[in-house]
Amino acid sequence: NITSFSKNFIVGENPLEAINSLKRIWKEGKTFTVDLLGEAAVSEAEADNYRDLYLSVVDILSKEMASWPAQDLEREKHFPRLNLSVKVSSLYSRIGPLNYEDSLEQVRTRLRQIFRKVRAAGGNVLIDMEMSSLKDLTIDLFLGLLGEPEFQEWEHAGIALQAYLKSAQQDVARVIDWAKSRRRRITIRLVKGAYWEYEKTIAGQRGWPVPVFTVKAHTDWNYEQCLEMILASHHHITLAVASHSVRSIAKALVATERLDVPRNRYEFQALYGMAEPIKYALTRMGHVIREYTPIGELIPGMAYLVRRLLEK
Ligand code: 2OP
Repeated sequence: NITSFSKNFIVGENPLEAINSLKRIWKEGKTFTVDLLGEAAVSEAEADNYRDLYLSVVDILSKEMASWPAQDLEREKHFPRLNLSVKVSSLYSRIGPLNYEDSLEQVRTRLRQIFRKVRAAGGNVLIDMEMSSLKDLTIDLFLGLLGEPEFQEWEHAGIALQAYLKSAQQDVARVIDWAKSRRRRITIRLVKGAYWEYEKTIAGQRGWPVPVFTVKAHTDWNYEQCLEMILASHHHITLAVASHSVRSIAKALVATERLDVPRNRYEFQALYGMAEPIKYALTRMGHVIREYTPIGELIPGMAYLVRRLLEK
């Protein structure tokens, strides 16, 4: 049962096995961001292996995708066809806030190689957000790396920010201010957040303040506030609306019209295997819709699958 359940949400066990499904997504007028399943690396060998897998997937996909028919050449200038999502917890085994400087240094070394490779291939990279204990570290890492001289002209990198966090509006403001003050363009992948049960449980066990909203409507409200902030900054920020909620999507659509946001400044994202009617409708409306497509085996994908099970 678990194996067949997993096939609904994992696009293939390895990149070669995933190609046909990825091609089908492309033919249906959608696009995708490839995630290699894996998080919370337990050894440095595992973290190196994860980085190497990312480097090799860039080679495999860019070679394969080069022969795919163009969907819309103008659009591809803003949304490169090669797109990868990366989780930083997979890039260093001792990553954590108590080990801050060391974590930054170790993850940066591996992530820099991925950034270089994706940029050289003309692709786009999105950094995923995980548990809140890694949030500031992930933002520092992302902005720090993009601030390095070799990445200063690069516009095709982004970071996920989570609206269920009580700090979300400050997080969004921080990233917007960074891009504005440097006259840069970066992407924010705005999500509600998939670690809600974890955050509540850990905070409860340790007697810490709960970092997430515990009422769903408050998260939805916060998501809408963040949407407005990002869309109002469309001169510097490209928005990825990553939600399966019709209400949140409708809110984003109305806000883009009201704020006169050009179509090449926002896209919609949904997970592989979920929200099919929504993907279909948005594609028919001519919007960019990107599927988050995980590749990998069952065991490294288990945490991802459990998060999907918990999703309402
Ligand atoms: C997750 O891994 C989709 O990034 C999200 O649950």
